[in-house]
Amino acid sequence: MQTVQDAPALRAAIRGWRSQGQTVGLVPTMGNLHAGHHSLLKLARARADRVVATVFVNPTQFGPNEDFERYPRTLVQDQAGLAEHGCDLLFAPEVATMYPFGAAQSVSIHVPGITDTLEGAHRPGHFDGVATVVCKLFNLVQPDLAVFGQKDFQQLKVIERMVRDLGLPLKVMGAPTLRADDGLALSSRNQYLSEAERNQAPLIRQTLQQMRDLLDKGHARRIIEEAAQSKLERAGFLPDYAVIRRAEDLAEPADGEREGLVALIAARLGTTRLIDNLPFD
Ligand code: PAF
Repeated sequence: MQTVQDAPALRAAIRGWRSQGQTVGLVPTMGNLHAGHHSLLKLARARADRVVATVFVNPTQFGPNEDFERYPRTLVQDQAGLAEHGCDLLFAPEVATMYPFGAAQSVSIHVPGITDTLEGAHRPGHFDGVATVVCKLFNLVQPDLAVFGQKDFQQLKVIERMVRDLGLPLKVMGAPTLRADDGLALSSRNQYLSEAERNQAPLIRQTLQQMRDLLDKGHARRIIEEAAQSKLERAGFLPDYAVIRRAEDLAEPADGEREGLVALIAARLGTTRLIDNLPFD
């Protein structure tokens, strides 16, 4: 596996593959990779001739009080895992490559509507940063397909919408969430949990499953959401939301609407903010 840091080297490698008629799959990441990321590579590998992964801790998607500085940078480890899991090329740019005029002076992409709610409401500007950097990566790599984890459900929907609205010529694919044996969704943030918090954390997944079961039994959505919220609070979580939404656009479903729904939770446990979701179909 080759690692490149600048755009000309990236383009040269991709040009070589393109001249042989090969397709390219992209897996954008912020590094600190785990089995969940490796499963994204596996999907890209199955659908494209060549796989490019990116490792870039994107400053514009972190809020002022978020963990940009303490976000773990583990490039050497990441390179070994990527090589082992079938990555052909790693693009690991500096901030100046992605933001040549500085992050504050960057063109910014705003995907309206779907970014107003849930993560967008709790992390203002977050999805502008995500959409902007992902669009830049799409322009640099020009992949045939790109793979994102369904764990970041809203992010996946924002990117799908951006691609459709801007007519970008690639396919966006969502890869299923990978979980520990006790149900906790794999995430780079899990390493911040204390032992006691790690034992508590699977309650998020259990609550999502309970929300689905209660909806199946015909309970009213708002009652289910309130029950989920209190259950998490009683167990020591500080939930930002525990809701059932339409999977397509994350809007509130109408009363009695049962098809195409997803339950989503974001909750703080100690100093760590965890998110997870469960599509019902
Ligand atoms: O999901 C992530 O790791 C990031 O939000 C992404 C998509 C790589 C953009 O920085």
